[in-house]
Amino acid sequence: MRGKFITIEGPDGAGKTTQVRKITNYLDSIGYKVLVTREPGGTSLGERLRDMVLTLKGESPVPEAEALIYAASRAQLVKKVINPALERGNIVLCDRFVDSSLAYQGWARGLGIQELTNINGWFLKDTWPDLTVILDVDPAQSLKRLRGKKDRLEKETLAFHQRVREGFLKVHSMYPNRTTIVDASQCPEQVFETILFEIKKSGIINI
Ligand code: TMP
Repeated sequence: MRGKFITIEGPDGAGKTTQVRKITNYLDSIGYKVLVTREPGGTSLGERLRDMVLTLKGESPVPEAEALIYAASRAQLVKKVINPALERGNIVLCDRFVDSSLAYQGWARGLGIQELTNINGWFLKDTWPDLTVILDVDPAQSLKRLRGKKDRLEKETLAFHQRVREGFLKVHSMYPNRTTIVDASQCPEQVFETILFEIKKSGIINI
C-alpha cells in the first residue's frame, strides 16, 4: 500500500525542525517506517540548489527565477526520494514543501498563489501532501528565535515575513481539507501534542 505524505510548514523561526524531530522519534517508536527530508534540498542536486538560492553572495535571483529554483529542487526530490519512499509504504515527513512556494513566492513575492500552484502541479501530479501542518506564529516573535548567520530569506524585512504568514493563512483557506493550522507560539511540547492530535485525526496512523 502506498505510504502517506506529511509536510510541516510555517514562517522562518516557527520551530519546524524541532517538530520534525519530535514527530519522527514518535512515529519510529510506535513502529512506523519514516523517511525524513527537507526543502529546498534532500538530494545532492537539491542541496546545491539550496546553497544557490539562499546564499547572500553574488546576484540575487528575480522572484520568477527564485520560484523555479525551488521548483527544480522539489521536482528532483519528488522523483528521486519521495515517490520511491511512498511506493515502499513509508511515511514521508518533509520539512517544507510546495506550500512554502505558494506562501513565499506566490503571496509574499506577489507572483500569485494560483500561478505557483500551476507551475508545481505540472510535475507534482498526484504527489500532493496527505496532511500539511502549518505552524502559525507572529514573525515578530519567531524571527527572534533564529540563531547563527541569517540566509538571504531570513534577512528579508519584517513586512515580508508578515506577508509570508498571511500567505500561509491564505493557503489554508484555499486547501482547508489538506492543511491544518497549529498555534506555534506555545511551548514545543504543546505544539507537538497538537500536531500529534492532527496526525491521528487525519487517519495517517492508527493508534
Ligand atoms: P528553511 O530555512 O526552513 O530550511 O527554508 C529555507 C528558506 O527557503 C526559508 O526562508 C523559506 C524559503 N523557501 C521559499 O521561499 N520557497 C520554497 O518553496 C521553499 C521550500 C523554501
